[in-house]
Amino acid sequence: MVSLQLEGRTVVVTGAGQGQGAAEARLLAESGARVIATDLSAVIPAGLGAGSSASAGALVYRQLDVSDEAGWSGLASWIRSQGWQVDGLVNNAGITQRSRLLDASVADLKKVYEVNVAGSVLGIQALSPLMRSGSSIVNVGSVAGLTAHYPVAYTASKWALRGLSQVAAMELGPRGIRVNTVHPGFIETPMTAGAKPEFRQSTLAETPLGRTGSVEEVAGVVLFLLSPLSSFVTGAEMPVDGGQASHGGAKSISDALH
Ligand SMILES: NC(=O)c1ccc[n+]([C@@H]2O[C@H](COP(=O)([O-])OP(=O)(O)OC[C@H]3O[C@@H](n4cnc5c(N)ncnc54)[C@H](O)[C@@H]3O)[C@@H](O)[C@H]2O)c1
Repeated sequence: MVSLQLEGRTVVVTGAGQGQGAAEARLLAESGARVIATDLSAVIPAGLGAGSSASAGALVYRQLDVSDEAGWSGLASWIRSQGWQVDGLVNNAGITQRSRLLDASVADLKKVYEVNVAGSVLGIQALSPLMRSGSSIVNVGSVAGLTAHYPVAYTASKWALRGLSQVAAMELGPRGIRVNTVHPGFIETPMTAGAKPEFRQSTLAETPLGRTGSVEEVAGVVLFLLSPLSSFVTGAEMPVDGGQASHGGAKSISDALH
């Protein structure tokens, strides 16, 4: 049997209270990792409990707002005080903001940037000093960071996150720390539960696999990138989107010519 070799590794997941982050935390624990699951809530979110009975590793919950620099240094100090190192970081926490180009305010742009981009910068700054060679960072982008997309603040933030990921891969590579990005398409989570039906239908029409994705389908790719099985992969970007970003708009042409 092939193992992901995550046993005994310590991995921090942000925004782990629900959606993709919760699935990543659960799957990591089931793979034998020690998971430090973090989110805004002061108490452990209900979504994290499910599946924990099957855990081979351990899951601890810590409150963390990723845009709070002091919160990150507090987390790093706490990890040090436990005598642990950090082997993995998943910068998953993210928010969306659905203003269109001509309506978006600077405040909208700043709010999304603070979480989606600055939150990931702060995480890398706080935790990479606790990482040794062989550690892995996974940033969670979006198909909105691969193409044009309708919510301008969110789209700009995910393109910025790609830039951060490439700089981090370049600067941390010599220390043996890998940095990769996953780009989810339409995944069924609380974030997308509020999306307009038109958004869902149009996305499905653009998606070669013709369906939305599950949180476990993103988590599987994240775990692979955290695992030593991907030890020569850094600075890479992996869409997890049913092919949505792969065809450059040619799908409607292909469909029309059937
Ligand atoms: N669901 C999708 O279709 C989709 C598609 C592409 C990319 N993504 C990205 O995937 C990631 C996870 O999305 P999701 O769909 O699971 O979202 P979600 O809204 O269901 O969960 C996001 C979690 O992040 C937490 N969070 C928000 N702001 C935070 C902050 N400042 N500090 C700490 N935690 C914070 C929330 O409390 C929540 O638990 C995000 O980065 C999102 O942009 C999602």
